Amino acid sequence: MFKLLFFIKSIKLIGFFIIINTIFANFTDFYVQIYIRIIIREKHNHRYINLKFLYYISRKTSIMIYKFKTLYRHIIEEERKIPEATGQLSDLLADIALACKVISLEVNRAGLIDILGFTGTKNIQGEKVKKLDVYANDILTYSMQMGGHICAVCSEEEVTFIPIKEIYEDKVLHNKYVCHFDPLDGSSNIDANISIGTIFSIYKRLSTHGPGTIEDCLQQGIKQIAAGYVVYGSSTILVYTAGKGVHGFTLDPSVGEFLLSHENMKIPKKSKIFSVNEGNYEKWSEGTKRYIDYLKQNDKSTGRPYSGRYVGSLVADFHRNLLYGGIFMYPADKNSKHGKLRLMYEANPLSFIAEQAGGRSSDGKTRILDIIPETLHQRTPLFIGSKEDVKQAEKFISEYD
Ligand code: AHG
Ligand code: MN
Ligand code: MN
Repeated sequence: MFKLLFFIKSIKLIGFFIIINTIFANFTDFYVQIYIRIIIREKHNHRYINLKFLYYISRKTSIMIYKFKTLYRHIIEEERKIPEATGQLSDLLADIALACKVISLEVNRAGLIDILGFTGTKNIQGEKVKKLDVYANDILTYSMQMGGHICAVCSEEEVTFIPIKEIYEDKVLHNKYVCHFDPLDGSSNIDANISIGTIFSIYKRLSTHGPGTIEDCLQQGIKQIAAGYVVYGSSTILVYTAGKGVHGFTLDPSVGEFLLSHENMKIPKKSKIFSVNEGNYEKWSEGTKRYIDYLKQNDKSTGRPYSGRYVGSLVADFHRNLLYGGIFMYPADKNSKHGKLRLMYEANPLSFIAEQAGGRSSDGKTRILDIIPETLHQRTPLFIGSKEDVKQAEKFISEYD
């Protein structure tokens, strides 16, 4: 006893370190290793006391640590706020999310398959190897068709829309939606291991029953009831809107679920980033040229010059700009009078998301969501992102074009 009292009296605590190390975590268990090093000063020297704990956090606690809300639960909670909702939209979005999980797996394997030489016309089983974008197209179509909530799908990969028969006999729960999608956006980037994505857009059908018609498919962007995209990047992230804000979910591979990671996303009003393929400069209109020149000039008071960031995958460029602020442009040029991007598969869904996040989107003159489509594969120039930047681009275009 005397010895202990003497020891305590003679030492002085001069510091301590705590190192927390997660050594094992999955859906059910969560172990944390904690090291504490206490530094004490004795009369003539320093000593260390190392303490080590292994702390087990039960499933219940770990669920509280992760902001544990699955995509499906989030959609259902949103849908419950609408009294007349039938739950079909939640199911349809779940069908899309399931297909995207499968695509994500396949995207991650793509490089490996290439290295092992399984690509070509036939695989080792003698089956035809599908290009990843065709594979993504098929898996999305199949997943939605099996779900029974759609009367037509329209894909960038198909020549025209695919009408789909009702599979439910219940006439109240008939296939009331149409889905448009770009199954794999930025597909030229696959082999370089650069982020790619899927874009989708959902409308209510106009006809009352049976397989969908071209009128069901050719609706104005403003009529979308939900839209979203998935980025297959360093992690897989799904962002969607059903007209009540924009929400992002990250795929947790250990759980196999999209978990809420970005609630109520808002794009900064003004940015410091522009994304455009400047290789097309010589072919642009005067207004577009002058706007890009303006962004590159030096002027501290307006935050110029802007930084140029261009991945070449629209979803990846859009996603970065949504998080940090930015303007993405694919203008019309001398060779492509209507630009490159497709109204129904790319511009409309991303414009719905941009507006819901407080941003803006136009073809340089007209709001994208107001364009009345004439054909399924129609193209449009696109200026999308931070509100003030898009307005500025429109100003240059109206002044010089
Ligand atoms: P997709 O792979 O679906 O055909 O889309 C490619 C699009 C888009 O993702 C990207 O922004 C744009 O093409 C890039 O075009 P450039 O190579 O002409 O810049
Ligand atoms: Mn695309
Ligand atoms: Mn595509």
